[in-house]
Amino acid sequence: MPDPAIVVDNLVKRFDTHTVLGGVSFTVEEGETVSVLGRSGTGKSVLLKTIIALLDPDEGSVRVLGQDLHRLDEEHRLEARKGIGYVFQGAALFDSLNVLENVGFALYQKHLPEDEIRKTVLDRLEAVGLEDAIDKFPSELSGGMQKRVGLARAIVESPRIILYDEPTTGLDPLTTDVINKIILRLRAKSHVTSIVVTHDIRSALAISDRLIMIDQGRIVANGTPSEIQASDNAWVQRFLGIRSVEAAALSSRPRIAIRRPPPAAPGT
Ligand SMILES: Nc1ncnc2c1ncn2[C@@H]1O[C@H](COP(=O)(O)OP(=O)(O)O)[C@@H](O)[C@H]1O
Ligand SMILES: [Mg+2]
Repeated sequence: MPDPAIVVDNLVKRFDTHTVLGGVSFTVEEGETVSVLGRSGTGKSVLLKTIIALLDPDEGSVRVLGQDLHRLDEEHRLEARKGIGYVFQGAALFDSLNVLENVGFALYQKHLPEDEIRKTVLDRLEAVGLEDAIDKFPSELSGGMQKRVGLARAIVESPRIILYDEPTTGLDPLTTDVINKIILRLRAKSHVTSIVVTHDIRSALAISDRLIMIDQGRIVANGTPSEIQASDNAWVQRFLGIRSVEAAALSSRPRIAIRRPPPAAPGT
């Protein structure tokens, strides 16, 4: 077996006295798509930012493609980050730049020839179905289109790893399906390794090889979609139950069959 692409080992992250991640360990194999699920404020974004070394861990370590980014000097850390695409929670586009300049930002910084940048950007926009939007500005795009531009930007340098922070949050069900299909297609086409942070259980079940569920800074479940759905953990079943009802209300498509959650145990 090759080494896992991402190894998170006993990660602890605190802000002052508030422990956000209380010892989180998991691995992601090369080519795998793993979703990390949990309620708002459980530290999902903090986890992604720590993986890419925008935040330092208080304890534990993270290795990405064999490298501990936190131990690299600034120059090598920046270099290592180029192999990691990061899709921000908001689209985080530059309002004053058009789609070409937003998606090609990293390539312009490298001073590559304009026609080469345009060609690469067009290729990435094709991957997200937005090649016609190349000359538009963010204000001319819908929320879902902006997310797709953010996605195109994350893959502009053909990363081996993509970290998605809430790629479908706040989107309607049809747009959510479009984004999920793009995530699935990217994975099939380029064998990319991905972590998708979300509280959208329906999307997570549709796109993931494995789901990791976090509550109060700890992993409460880690398994394939069918293992998670069969879990007898009360917290997991409650999360699946709540979300599946929400998903059913939102979606006109047949919903994924999820076992009915057992009644919550007293005191939970
Ligand atoms: N830079 C920071 N400084 C202090 N507290 C932070 C910082 N970033 C996140 N937090 C806190 O960490 C917790 C988890 O945040 P976050 O990872 O954004 O949650 P979510 O699971 O919704 O993505 C929240 O209580 C948040 O207020
Ligand atoms: Mg978040």
